[in-house]
Amino acid sequence: MAVDLLLGLQWGDEGKGKIVDVLTSKYNIIARFQGGPNAGHTLVFNGRKHVLHTIPSGIFHDNTTNLVGNGVVIDPVIFKKELDKLEEQHVDYRKSMLISRKAHIILPTHRLLDAASETAKGKAKIGSTLKGIGPTYMDKTGRNGLRVGDLELSDWKERYRALADKHESMISYYNVDIQYDLAELEKEFFEAIKVLKTLKFIDSEEYLYQAQKAGKTILAEGAQGSLLDIDFGTYPFVTSSNTTAAGACTGLGVSPSQIGDVFGIFKAYTTRVGSGPFPTELFDEDGATMSRVGQEFGATTGRPRRCGWLDLVALRYACQVNGVTQLMMMKGDVLSGFNTLKVCTAYNYKGETITHFPYNIEPENVKPIYTEFKGWKEDLTEMADANQLPKALNTYIEFLEKELEIPITIVSVGPDRKQTIFRNSK
Ligand code: GDP
Ligand code: IMO
Ligand code: MG
Repeated sequence: MAVDLLLGLQWGDEGKGKIVDVLTSKYNIIARFQGGPNAGHTLVFNGRKHVLHTIPSGIFHDNTTNLVGNGVVIDPVIFKKELDKLEEQHVDYRKSMLISRKAHIILPTHRLLDAASETAKGKAKIGSTLKGIGPTYMDKTGRNGLRVGDLELSDWKERYRALADKHESMISYYNVDIQYDLAELEKEFFEAIKVLKTLKFIDSEEYLYQAQKAGKTILAEGAQGSLLDIDFGTYPFVTSSNTTAAGACTGLGVSPSQIGDVFGIFKAYTTRVGSGPFPTELFDEDGATMSRVGQEFGATTGRPRRCGWLDLVALRYACQVNGVTQLMMMKGDVLSGFNTLKVCTAYNYKGETITHFPYNIEPENVKPIYTEFKGWKEDLTEMADANQLPKALNTYIEFLEKELEIPITIVSVGPDRKQTIFRNSK
């Protein structure tokens, strides 16, 4: 069986968690392949909201295996907190969760290094979630990292100490004022490692190979979004992993020839949290309305998300890089009530009209060129069938499908699992 992928096409927070939860009943295995607790994936069902950071979004379904793949970076402290929450809700994660031995571990000093690096950057800071993501991936590619499988070795504590000591000297190199009590942080860390070690560590690439051979269905769950990809995103204002389709191959050990559908998720408008260029960003009443109605606050950090119109130049680029086969449009309900909607269809780039995503999208180089659409007044949140969608929304959707040449098969009209409309499904 092929491995399907589900990816964010913008700057993250598109609604990946919700859709993975909606699709989980069709899959035997849900696998996270990159990122770590910088992610915040929100699921809403039975009147309750759940936010997951490292744990795959299939965890609330019985009979689904949830795999944390080799490309993920795990903070045992945050992981333990997620498990505690699951336990409160009587979710039996022990039987359904597997962790790759090759996943890297976020140390407390990685978090401190993240903070030191950001403080040293001053105004040029990335706006990192301060979860230690960048420093952990740096240790991975620098071949210094501590992996989950190392916890099974007798000398893992010495390895830990050597790495943490090195980090401490790096922190002092930054010469910034970072207050911390490492002994306190380590106490919490070692407690959490004990809990992590009670879970099942596996050679996940072998597991997935055998699962595919046995005909199991697998959905790979992306974190962040394509415009935060370390190679293809708005560098340096990106995260430190490949969030795009290729990341699922390296982050799970799945061959490109095994990839099936690529589900690309986007909001009907655009948001971004943290620093970096954002051509269609709004600073007016329309942006404030999106923020208020869409409740645009980060699920991990609580920071307000910047809001703007849909950017088709960026979206087309993300669809190309990922080879998207089906699109899912989220938060259409948030746009109800706007008289006019705008979609950026091209950029004025240094005086020239372009439709491809250029190397540099800094505001001094790029001005969005918009196409306007009539808005709709209807409340979408109670709608359950594609036939109920207002004409103006259908015009908007059909325009996007035509421009992107990919069908929009899901229109999400609210945060709840049930507020999901299927259209043109294969
Ligand atoms: P993720 O990181 O991609 O999983 O997305 P987040 O959970 O960070 O952010 C998406 C937010 O939008 C969450 O608060 C969701 O509950 C909410 N959400 C998802 N889909 C919809 C939708 O169709 N309409 C509305 N109004 N909210 C949605
Ligand atoms: P999900 O999976 C939105 C952003 C941060 C910052 C940049 C680098 O919920 O969509 P990092 O901590 O990775 O070094 O931060 O990336 N960022 C996200 N923005 N959603 C996310 O994840 C994000 N994960 C990281 O705000 O700008
Ligand atoms: Mg999120």
